[in-house]
Amino acid sequence: MENNQVLHLEIKENGVAIVEIHRPEARNALNLELRQALSETFQQLSKSDDVRAIVLTGGEKVFAAGADIKDFTTATTIDMYLRHTEQYWQSIVDCPKPIIAAVNGYALGGGCELAMHADIIVAGISAKFGQPEVKLGLMPGAGGTQRLLRAIGKFQTMLMVLTGKMIEANEAKQMGLVSEVVDDDKTIAHALEIAETIAALSPIAVQQIKEVTSLGQDMPLQSALTLERKAFQILFDTKDQKEGVNAFFEKRKPNYTGK
Ligand code: CAA
Repeated sequence: MENNQVLHLEIKENGVAIVEIHRPEARNALNLELRQALSETFQQLSKSDDVRAIVLTGGEKVFAAGADIKDFTTATTIDMYLRHTEQYWQSIVDCPKPIIAAVNGYALGGGCELAMHADIIVAGISAKFGQPEVKLGLMPGAGGTQRLLRAIGKFQTMLMVLTGKMIEANEAKQMGLVSEVVDDDKTIAHALEIAETIAALSPIAVQQIKEVTSLGQDMPLQSALTLERKAFQILFDTKDQKEGVNAFFEKRKPNYTGK
């Protein structure tokens, strides 16, 4: 386990990394130190051959209560511009490994936006999602309007971002914002199970699937289908593809090497 004050990182032998936000005194609010730590950690995990899937969590009590509102009290437009926080988020966007968010408690504002940077969201039954920025005279600024729109459509998004209303885990699942809802004490364990399942698969196939699915969402259908076909074809040049097919016929567990 590598620790800094606000972010804990553990890389397990099975290829699963656990990134845990740790600012309990501020409900895991994302201050600059935490954003920087998240960015550096995701850059490190992106490059590491030992990591095949990542669980991102805020622990048992709270995922993240958003941007640190203290950073906003006297900030001017140019202060906000010069912070270039989009560069920190980009390290997570660019991560080629699957990210599974394990959400307990509040995922609000930047916390909800952080969860939406994941590929799969597992929520504890008491988790609450929301974009309450409008209540601060603000608006979502790290993808909230756009990522929600793409996940749950215009009318649910408008309701959330215009009122700041929080939604419960089961409602979030019905809307398509959450992949699975489990008991609060099972959230991290279940996210780990999913990560372990993915980590045992061919990392090249997994990364191609993540890339095509993520990019395809914003592409015209014909271009996205072409991208998918090309990625599918590329996989035929991997040892893992032959291993997967041979293991099927030999009725054994495949041993994927990432080659
Ligand atoms: N920033 C800074 N500090 C925060 C915080 C935040 N986002 N959220 C909570 N805290 C602090 C509180 O100030 C409090 O500190 P003190 O003990 O020093 O008073 C401590 O964490 C505990 O908070 P509460 O007493 O409020 O705890 P609660 O359990 O009663 O309520 C909560 C929890 C519902 C999350 C509530 O704290 C809350 O509403 N937080 C703000 C949520 C919010 O508005 N988020 C959006 C931020 S803007 C944003 O994210 C912009 C963007 O898109 C990038």
